Amino acid sequence: MNILIIGSGGREHAFAWKLKQSSKLDQLFIAPGNAGTVGLGQNLSIETTDFAAIRQAVLDHHIGMVIVGPEIPLVAGIHDFFLADAHLKEIPVIGPCREGARLEGSKEFAKEFMLRNDIPTAKYFTVHQGNLEEGIEFLRQVSSPYVLKADGLAAGKGVLILGNLEEAIDSLKEMLNGLFGSASATVVIEEFLSGVECSVFVLTDGVHYKILPEAKDYKRIGEGDTGLNTGGMGAISPVPFVTKEFMQKVEDRMVKPTVLGLQREGIGFKGFLFLGLMNCQGEPFLIEYNVRMGDPETEAVLMRIQSDLLDLFEGVASGTLDEKELVIDPRTAVTVMVVAGGYPGSYDKGKMIRNLAAVEGSVVFHAGTRLEGETVLSNGGRVLAVSSLANSMDEALALSYKNTERISFDKMYYRTDLGFDLK
Ligand code: AMP
Ligand code: GLY
Repeated sequence: MNILIIGSGGREHAFAWKLKQSSKLDQLFIAPGNAGTVGLGQNLSIETTDFAAIRQAVLDHHIGMVIVGPEIPLVAGIHDFFLADAHLKEIPVIGPCREGARLEGSKEFAKEFMLRNDIPTAKYFTVHQGNLEEGIEFLRQVSSPYVLKADGLAAGKGVLILGNLEEAIDSLKEMLNGLFGSASATVVIEEFLSGVECSVFVLTDGVHYKILPEAKDYKRIGEGDTGLNTGGMGAISPVPFVTKEFMQKVEDRMVKPTVLGLQREGIGFKGFLFLGLMNCQGEPFLIEYNVRMGDPETEAVLMRIQSDLLDLFEGVASGTLDEKELVIDPRTAVTVMVVAGGYPGSYDKGKMIRNLAAVEGSVVFHAGTRLEGETVLSNGGRVLAVSSLANSMDEALALSYKNTERISFDKMYYRTDLGFDLK
């Protein structure tokens, strides 16, 4: 089968790397891809929301399945676009339709869904221009710190956590007045949850599901989880505090009610569910849904999946995921994200990346790169995801760090303390 992967990051490189191992794969295409995906398939210079160009590419290259990496094309309705087209509707898309993608595209929708389905989550109140006074009243009732979330997609930047009430009220007004554009025309205020975060990934055909390896993501730019939020500076899987008992609670209280809730509400869902959750003294609380895999979590998680990913995707497409086998490697996978100096603020692109060939024993997934002739250049804030699998977290980290030190580009930066909180 010919496959098209939509996206250009480390997640999509990792999908390409894993799908390339499948005996069911014929040709692989990635739109738009990066320098890392070049060796695995053919990059197509198409933006992820250019559905007309994607349609043409699917027909030209006899694509049998489309894997959607990022959330934006899903929220924009790429799956619905396929279903509405006579020539595309039989071609499976891995990723939900627009309605299901609202679990990520609207925080308000997600919270209401959690409430309807009795899924443990923080108390909340939804505010828009019309009920600002009630929103302020809710802020007065909860205690500090205050969590304010833009309802819509804001590239991971739409959450503010504020220490005092006056600041929180000011920020609430700024958000409603367009701090995050139309994404914050509605704001969800949440009670603050204190605990340790982790990510649980589920692959579902809408009825059956498989729980994939969990992971911990390091979101802050600075050592010791300090400084600004980023897309993710590294990932570790498995997460030591996620015991069998904890995972059973996640399955019973979150995964099952989510899949059943989607069914009950008539929302077909074929793709990934990403549960961002907080472990509050052994009890899981759901912070957010994403409707795609995480990045950089995918780079670690896929290293631990021994089964044929394309076979699992076929199960998703045909509604027979229950007949498929998911075998997980018990070893630890880690990803060290190498970023451009200055990220997540302003940074340079186009830096020459040296010594990639010197890497031994790790897989370097490209997150933001492009090829110019034979030269690999940086092309984003997050540049490379140096990923390793080993018998212990320390061994896997040592391997990734050893290989990261071999690579160089001007002003490269990475966190050297991944796993500090898990030891
Ligand atoms: P979200 O986009 O909803 O995942 O929120 C981004 C980050 O804000 C999360 O990864 C958490 O670190 C933090 N966060 C969100 N909601 C809460 C909450 N209710 N309590 C504490 N921290 C939160
Ligand atoms: N690493 C977090 C995310 O993909 O949203």
